[in-house]
Amino acid sequence: MFQFVILGIVILLWIGGVTYLSAALFYRMTRKELFVPFVPIDSAGVDAMARASKIVGNERVVDIGSGWGTILFALLDRYPKLQVTGIEINPFLHLFAKLRGWLFHRSSSYQLFRGDAANFSFEAYEVVFLFMLSPFVDRVLVPKFEKELKSGTRVVSYVFPMQSKAFTEEKISMNSQGWRNAVYVYTKK
Ligand SMILES: C[S@@+](CC[C@H](N)C(=O)[O-])C[C@H]1O[C@@H](n2cnc3c(N)ncnc32)[C@H](O)[C@@H]1O
Repeated sequence: MFQFVILGIVILLWIGGVTYLSAALFYRMTRKELFVPFVPIDSAGVDAMARASKIVGNERVVDIGSGWGTILFALLDRYPKLQVTGIEINPFLHLFAKLRGWLFHRSSSYQLFRGDAANFSFEAYEVVFLFMLSPFVDRVLVPKFEKELKSGTRVVSYVFPMQSKAFTEEKISMNSQGWRNAVYVYTKK
């Protein structure tokens, strides 16, 4: 009996893995930019980002690549007056985040958009949260940040640094996801 359960789990993981990789490959072949996979952040990472961001009061915050809403809802738990927006390209993760909001955060003020961050305007935000690969950030998001973000706006990036002369950089080392990591805080000059 036990062997059948193990075999069932292995088959399910294999099917899930092949499906995910096929979707990733299809996505990669149909787009110009680099594919940024879904990797959920852990609670140590969210804590470190929240502390590093030095959020005050009711700032307008956006989480780019918001996945199933972990950063967004954790921020709302800590700072109920924040106005938080999430933008996520993957429709399944977007729907999951919506369901999570509907179940557990009905009274909070947040917005969840399904779409490509490359087409989203960041002008309205004072704090930007990121957990995305550097090549995508540098090629797609940095030109937009340089044009759209106001002076003083903070970009808080988990694990991956970004390259821009328009921002000052502060690196904060911490432990998360089981190893030594870093949060980068960029402030627009
Ligand atoms: C490393 S995950 C981070 C997920 C979530 N922020 C968290 O910390 O748990 C990166 C996320 O960015 C999303 N993503 C990738 N490319 C994107 C794009 N062009 N626009 C919006 N979201 C994107 C992925 O689907 C994935 O959910």
